[in-house]
Amino acid sequence: MVTASNGSRRRPSSKRLPEVSVLRVGHRVGRDPRLTTHLALSARAFGAARMLLHPPDPDLTARVAAVVDRWGGTFEVLPATEWRSTVKGFDGVVVHLTMYGLPLERVLPRLAGARRILLVVGGAKVPPDLYRLARYNVAVGHQPHSEVAALAVALARLLGVPGPRAISGARQRVVPRARGKKVVGGRERG
Ligand SMILES: C[S@@+](CC[C@H](N)C(=O)[O-])C[C@H]1O[C@@H](n2cnc3c(N)ncnc32)[C@H](O)[C@@H]1O
Repeated sequence: MVTASNGSRRRPSSKRLPEVSVLRVGHRVGRDPRLTTHLALSARAFGAARMLLHPPDPDLTARVAAVVDRWGGTFEVLPATEWRSTVKGFDGVVVHLTMYGLPLERVLPRLAGARRILLVVGGAKVPPDLYRLARYNVAVGHQPHSEVAALAVALARLLGVPGPRAISGARQRVVPRARGKKVVGGRERG
């Protein structure tokens, strides 16, 4: 299992990393656009392959696609009209992130050999059967916080924290600097 301890490399070991998908359950179209967009962007930035969105939101999907177009990669937001079918049909390990679950550090070793992982996050209300359908219910700490925080920490622990290497297909990328902002392929600012 890769840890994010040094935070400087995408793949600090030669171990095969899982392909991680994210399922967002209970998105409120028209009410949660900012939060769910941040969830998608965090999923992408921390190495998830895709986000399945229940219920679907074509506007949000298009906004995220515009970011991918500029910043690269193949991340996409896909519709999950029936979230239960998505969970039941997933060909891998389903991990539901919830403050009521087992501590993340205890479950990570059990995920070490997984080829594909589906991280499920809820919204304001979480359907009770999700706890039963998931293979693991996993807590990132046992205090209430946010799906964005829970997802980011879980992805960082599973995949490591990405470094500044350009994502393939990027039209612009950040050049790390101690001060100011430098973007290659985009506007430079002091
Ligand atoms: C704002 S919380 C809503 C929690 C919801 N009221 C419930 O009964 O679980 C939204 C989502 O954030 C994630 N989340 C919040 N705190 C978490 C924690 N400590 N550990 C893991 N996930 C958490 C969960 O996926 C949760 O469904």
